Amino acid sequence: MTNSAAEPDGATPLEEDEREGLRFPHIETRAELDRMEQANIVEGQRWLNRQKKPDVLTETFALALHKHLFGEVWRWAGRFRSTEKNIGVAPHQIAMALRGLLDNTRYQADHAVYPPLELALRFHHRLVQIHPFPNGNGRHSRIMTDALLRFRLEQPSIVWEGRNAIQNLQAAGAHRVAYIKALRAADVRDFAPLLKLFGDGNEA
Ligand SMILES: Nc1ncnc2c1ncn2[C@@H]1O[C@H](COP(=O)(O)OP(=O)(O)OP(=O)(O)O)[C@@H](O)[C@H]1O
Ligand SMILES: [Mg+2]
Repeated sequence: MTNSAAEPDGATPLEEDEREGLRFPHIETRAELDRMEQANIVEGQRWLNRQKKPDVLTETFALALHKHLFGEVWRWAGRFRSTEKNIGVAPHQIAMALRGLLDNTRYQADHAVYPPLELALRFHHRLVQIHPFPNGNGRHSRIMTDALLRFRLEQPSIVWEGRNAIQNLQAAGAHRVAYIKALRAADVRDFAPLLKLFGDGNEA
């Protein structure tokens, strides 16, 4: 995790601390890791699709989802982070902050405080801001947000990225830059950029 929108180049060797908990010692580069993670995420999404009306707004579900998305690659998947990052609350505050978010979101959904898409984007922003896990927070939170829309709000998923490379969120392209910028605006309570990027009628 860096503070810039840029992610390391695919060929960059992984650093020693980035390898911590990796189940495959033969993985050497970012590109290989991305492939392994992507295969795991596909399995995790299959697990999600098999769920019948899960209660998405619980710690148990949030942890189980992270575990199913990343558990074949990382030993620490499905467990809260125990070290500081330059994004996120202090490790000892994660459980409380997440509890607060889940409870607030439940209230907001029950009382239709925001339109569903805005509610979902606010949830997404706060979840990545808490940054519960050592890694995979962006992907986990986007899938968790889609699960909230689907299972609780009965709405379609967000179109996070398009099929063409320009609209890729993982690569350090313009779309990712705009996404990170919109998250930063939301940090200071301006949700308009996130809504503009992912709201109704976004063309991806
Ligand atoms: N300044 C920032 N720079 C990068 N990511 C940020 C920033 N602020 C918030 N974030 C969020 O954190 C996520 C990155 O965290 P992490 O590396 O744990 O997740 P990831 O799933 O591995 O990343 P990603 O899918 O975005 O490549 C971003 O997707 C974004 O949602
Ligand atoms: Mg990451």
